[in-house]
Amino acid sequence: MRDLLPRERAIWRVAEKAAAEVARSFGYEEIVTPVIEHADLIERVGEETDTVAKELYRFDDRGGRNLALRPEATAGVVRAYFEGGLSQGTQPSRLYLIGPMFRYDRPQKGRYRQFFQFNVEAIGVGSAALDAEVIELAAGWLHGVGLGELRLELNSIGDAKCRPAYLERLQAYYQPFKSQLHGDCQLRLESNPLRLLDCKVAQCQPFKTGAPRVTDHLCEECSEAWAEVQLLVDAAGIEYQLNPYLVRGLDYYTRTVFEFYRAGATGQQDALASGGRYDGLAEAEGWPSTPGVGFAGGLDRVTELMAASGEEVIAPPPADVVVLADGNLDVAAADVARICRTVRSVAVDYERKSLRAKMRSANKLGARWVVLIGAEDAERRTAQLREMVSGEQVEVAWADLPAKLMR
Ligand code: HAM
Repeated sequence: MRDLLPRERAIWRVAEKAAAEVARSFGYEEIVTPVIEHADLIERVGEETDTVAKELYRFDDRGGRNLALRPEATAGVVRAYFEGGLSQGTQPSRLYLIGPMFRYDRPQKGRYRQFFQFNVEAIGVGSAALDAEVIELAAGWLHGVGLGELRLELNSIGDAKCRPAYLERLQAYYQPFKSQLHGDCQLRLESNPLRLLDCKVAQCQPFKTGAPRVTDHLCEECSEAWAEVQLLVDAAGIEYQLNPYLVRGLDYYTRTVFEFYRAGATGQQDALASGGRYDGLAEAEGWPSTPGVGFAGGLDRVTELMAASGEEVIAPPPADVVVLADGNLDVAAADVARICRTVRSVAVDYERKSLRAKMRSANKLGARWVVLIGAEDAERRTAQLREMVSGEQVEVAWADLPAKLMR
């Protein structure tokens, strides 16, 4: 976990603002859910997944409840959709959330134990058009922050109707090679065969090419949805690659799954944003069966790329105006600051040091103006207003400061 210092926050603010703006431009509303959920709710997301099995921060609270720091937001957003009565409102519920997630993963560049996601969910309508909508929204956000060169990978992994038969085929195909697979994949063959397809270990690669492809074994409804998603993503002018091995790390996905990468990035790399449809999640949480689709973008990775690609973000100075008073004129300094603050951001230097030294720190801070107050000024309720760049200095009555600072 890491601190984000003020100088780093400037680029984060750009990414967060773009996220909120693009979400609102598609009619999505903000939702905030707690970072702690019942561990039970999270486990229903998929006990077979690393995110839950190995990476969950789990603890008992003082009331003996078994809780978890959320490793992702979708499970909690779906819970809130029902508990908050959104399921009774206009459908779909279009929601976005920006906040921290927690996974006990091996930390490395672009992968943290506390990381931030921009999460988007459309819940309550099963139309494949919404799959394309959230893909377009994700692309819009990444373009908006200057990451235009993207590679979108797309797949469909079927649903509860057609996937079981496909998984049997997949298992039957892999069974003869079982002893040649690496340890985890031998286990996956029994517990979660779909994950055989996204194994990155070299010894398992030769078997993938001959494996049956899920998109060749979709039921009629899934096939139609798959065709519509592609049609709409094409119509949005977004390029993509079909990746039959893309299956995603969370168990709740049905039909469309997708991941955005930086174009040209090679080797094993991390997705900038990823998601898919999760029509079985609400039911797995114990609610009435309700379709949903969404994605999450990783703010840590996106801001790192923005910084690396030279995205110009000039951090504004913390204050436009610095008020400096001579000696112990703290009351006068605070009064003047209050007056100036009606039109500009203002910091007061209360340190007991020479005016010269205070001028130097005001300069460092990048303030546009300095307001100087000497003992005589304070008595007459005047001040010396100095514009730092030009060095121009004029005497101004306190009451006239706002008008001067507005120019
Ligand atoms: P996810 O693929 O686990 O999906 O995470 C989404 C994004 O979060 C990733 O593409 C990546 O950018 C970022 N991310 C994940 N783990 C880390 C980490 N340890 N450090 C930094 N960034 C990370 C989900 O979480 C789903 N809930 C997405 C979703 C929403 N599906 C449907 N709706």
